[in-house]
Amino acid sequence: MEIAVIGVGHTEFGELWTQSLLDLIARAQLEALADAGLEPGQIDEIFVANMCAPQLLGQAHLGALAADVLGINSPAFTIEAACASGSFAVRSGIRAILSGESTVVMVTGAEKLMDASIEQVATSFMSASTRDVEHSKGATFPSLFALVARLYLEKYKITREQYAQVSIKNHHHGKQNPLAHFQRDITLEDFANAPMVADPLTLLDCSPISDGAACIILSTVKFAKSLGRPYVSIIACEAAVDCVNIADRASLIDLKATTLAADKAFARANLKHSDIDVLEVHDAFSPAELMVLESLGFFKPGQAAGATMDGVTTTTGSLPVNLSGGLKAKGHPVGATGIAQIVELTKQLRGQAFGRQLKDPRYALAHNMGGIGTSVVVTILAQLS
Ligand code: COA
Repeated sequence: MEIAVIGVGHTEFGELWTQSLLDLIARAQLEALADAGLEPGQIDEIFVANMCAPQLLGQAHLGALAADVLGINSPAFTIEAACASGSFAVRSGIRAILSGESTVVMVTGAEKLMDASIEQVATSFMSASTRDVEHSKGATFPSLFALVARLYLEKYKITREQYAQVSIKNHHHGKQNPLAHFQRDITLEDFANAPMVADPLTLLDCSPISDGAACIILSTVKFAKSLGRPYVSIIACEAAVDCVNIADRASLIDLKATTLAADKAFARANLKHSDIDVLEVHDAFSPAELMVLESLGFFKPGQAAGATMDGVTTTTGSLPVNLSGGLKAKGHPVGATGIAQIVELTKQLRGQAFGRQLKDPRYALAHNMGGIGTSVVVTILAQLS
């Protein structure tokens, strides 16, 4: 499989008081079109990723609105898979091209959360859990993940200093990303004063709530070649799901859907873990990055924390992870997140990631998950052109 990424667009992430959801969608889409050198009329189909707009803004039907802002009549609709909405939309766009029905597809993700109260946002997020079992008992996503994190941290004797290092590293990376929600360093000392959100997760262990949008334009390789300029390829985009109610799982700390999706993605791309030069993974909470890297197969269980302390996952390490700042520092406008990961990795593979650019990366991997590791997509990109 080979699908070309021919254009990318990405608004800043953060508290964007003066911009509406449609402003953000329009900006990301127009930037991606300009990047690809295309006119709106050349888009065959639009897939829009969003989770919370119907609940928080009273606005659904975003597919048609995303086509409207471009003045086109191509088919367009919304895809929702909680925090993995963006990558499931990418996967749907790829499949539209693979079916032979579409040549050029736009995939847009957007979320406008900061206008709502934290209570409204937390309630909206919890619509991605089981209403009868988890939501109705008062659980929130930080509290559910705290249960999982506690088991994981205790089992592998991971210290406060070790899992803090994930957030410290990602904030440091975010300083090099002008579009990131937080562009400042944090230190180990800051954790001592950080408010507890759900023990063992403090404010500084949590990804923030953000506004923002991202967009990519995908096409057949033949069309990409006709444009006469370098493009980046997606060579695998595989998905899996796990039980929504975490109490139904055989293990709370093995992220089964992540492992299943990764195994399928590596098989599809015909690559080994050692081929991957750079990753963007779903660090919604600091221990999540460690668990995800292990479930993806990059480290043995319990060993990602030590590697993180040793600097393996930094810009200068052998396995750079979340150079964008990750969800922790770049921000997490839910529907945009999975698409923003592809934008970041496309920039890395094109050599356009500026202050955070690696030297000649060839293969990149994105991991995006919705719920507590419930809906997962693993995408592998390559610089082949
Ligand atoms: N990391 C670092 N700083 C943060 C932050 C975060 N995650 N969230 C907020 N802040 C900062 C704000 O910028 C603000 O700073 P300021 O006073 O200098 O302006 C301050 O902390 C207070 O922000 P506020 O918006 O009042 O925070 P909050 O208490 O409403 O929300 C959380 C904080 C952690 C509860 C919220 O971000 C959250 O729920 N995060 C998890 C989101 C989630 O569940 N995602 C789904 C993953 S599956």
